[in-house]
Amino acid sequence: MRVDLVIEGKAYLDGRLIEAAVAIDDGVIASISSPALAPSSDERVVMRQGQIMLPGMVDMHVHLRDFSQAYKEDWYTGTLAALRGGVTLVADMPNNDPFIDSLERLMEKLEIAARKALVDFTLYCGAPKDLREIPEIRKIACGLKIYPEDYGKLLSIINHLEGDLVVVHPEDLETIMRERRLIAKPTIEDHGRIRPRIAEIRAVENMLRIAGSGRIRLHLTHLTTSDSIMMIASSKLHGATISCDATLHHALLSSDAMRRFGGIAKVNPPLRSREDADAVLNAIRLGLVDAIVSDHAPHLLEEKLRSSYDEVPPGFPGLEIYLPLIMTQIMDGVIPLKTLDLYSRRPAEILGARKGALEPGMDGDVVIVELGREHVIDPSRFASKAKYSPFEGWVVRAEVRMVFLRGVLALEDGEPRIGMGFGRHVARS
Ligand code: DOR
Ligand code: ZN
Repeated sequence: MRVDLVIEGKAYLDGRLIEAAVAIDDGVIASISSPALAPSSDERVVMRQGQIMLPGMVDMHVHLRDFSQAYKEDWYTGTLAALRGGVTLVADMPNNDPFIDSLERLMEKLEIAARKALVDFTLYCGAPKDLREIPEIRKIACGLKIYPEDYGKLLSIINHLEGDLVVVHPEDLETIMRERRLIAKPTIEDHGRIRPRIAEIRAVENMLRIAGSGRIRLHLTHLTTSDSIMMIASSKLHGATISCDATLHHALLSSDAMRRFGGIAKVNPPLRSREDADAVLNAIRLGLVDAIVSDHAPHLLEEKLRSSYDEVPPGFPGLEIYLPLIMTQIMDGVIPLKTLDLYSRRPAEILGARKGALEPGMDGDVVIVELGREHVIDPSRFASKAKYSPFEGWVVRAEVRMVFLRGVLALEDGEPRIGMGFGRHVARS
């Protein structure tokens, strides 16, 4: 056997770091062996001391914008951010302008993404306006995304779904609107009061009831409270086919960040107390959540610095820093090495993609990470158009050096080695 590429070095295999040779042929992992038994290859990469080889990371919740919001992010800058963060598959949310809720809009987005993407991608559709389009939408979208405004729509379409992935943003809108009316002129620091933890808990309760019908694979995204994480864990113990995720900002930052960063740290759901953040971090540590997501939500710095509470858009970028942050937490002993699965293997499984693990038959997506040297997170150097972060100033000790996408060197030392449009649409398998 002769293969296209062999990468040799310490590899993340089955939850451990082992000296190995990963052989890639035709874009797919052909074999994994000890270096001595590696097949001959056209190309050979031997990793240096201090480097480790990981599967390409998978981020199942990002907003890459484009359309009329290309000034905030477009599919080139957004996927360059992904590549720099060692992410080789992104699943993009439908809250574009225009909102993606029909086959036609989905096709428009597919065309833009296919033309500009550097990494592989899949797309969510919003609650479809026309139920008759669901079978066609299913062929393109990895699932549906339901926002708090659309809970009613989910009820009216659920009988047309058959085991489809439905990602829900759990925050009860009525609670939020009631709280908002109570404060005449809110400041950024009121954000957590306007969108309180009880809004999330109510929405999760509501959704768990709906998911009981078994017609959908419910996935609850960006959980922020111990109560909702416990309710979901309990539902799983009782046999429900549901999954959930958490972000690193809800695990590592607290509402203190809003005092320090103001509108930059405004995000939905809001950053919460240190206690809730610790619970989210423990949920990640114990594997009580199925995935880590960045919720990469870029806006322009000018927009984030606006003085009026209502005019500051929620969200911030994350794609470039998630893997370095996770690796650093692992090296600090805060979370186990296996946490890497939450940003690779598990989300790939949920999305039905043959990615996210170094195993024969998976796409040849490999990230070479260098460990040890300290870097300060400097958002002014982001590839994203959103050049700010509530993680600004954090010190990380892991750096993405090379990314291979389907066996092709896609990034080296921060620079792309592939062109726009190399990224491919991943359909549900
Ligand atoms: O903070 C957020 N930003 N939460 C959302 O649900 C949407 C996102 C965005 O698109 O900016
Ligand atoms: Zn989001």
